[in-house]
Amino acid sequence: MERREFIIEGCRICLLTAAVAGISGLSSCGPSYPVFKTEMVDNKLQVPLSLFDKNALQVISPRKFQYEIAVQKNSDDTYKALLLRCTHQSNQLIPTGKGYLCSLHGSTFDKEGNVTKGPAELKLKELKTEVSGTNLIVFI
Ligand code: FES
Repeated sequence: MERREFIIEGCRICLLTAAVAGISGLSSCGPSYPVFKTEMVDNKLQVPLSLFDKNALQVISPRKFQYEIAVQKNSDDTYKALLLRCTHQSNQLIPTGKGYLCSLHGSTFDKEGNVTKGPAELKLKELKTEVSGTNLIVFI
């Protein structure tokens, strides 16, 4: 690769990075959320309720499952679990702090899972939850 081609390619990468950051409203590192890795058993996840003591939003990453799940503890002590799968073409979504972003075509969703920007048209799938002892059960 000649020097000129190297510089052009470097500029393309910088512009792409800036465009993605601009679309998402993220800084270069973006907000970070605690990710809880767990096993899925009988299409259920067990999440310790104590995780929500410090952070109302937890991202759950089931092993051997393609998508993460965002679980939000509400002020009335109920929980909302959203499958972080874009309803446009099934890409994994990224939490932004204001909601969720699809990096594939730029769809955005609010914290309730409603579409705030297309091309996605359908809201995110909400998963049933149930408190059982010291755990939250999320039904996949
Ligand atoms: S797959 Fe998410 S916007 Fe297309």
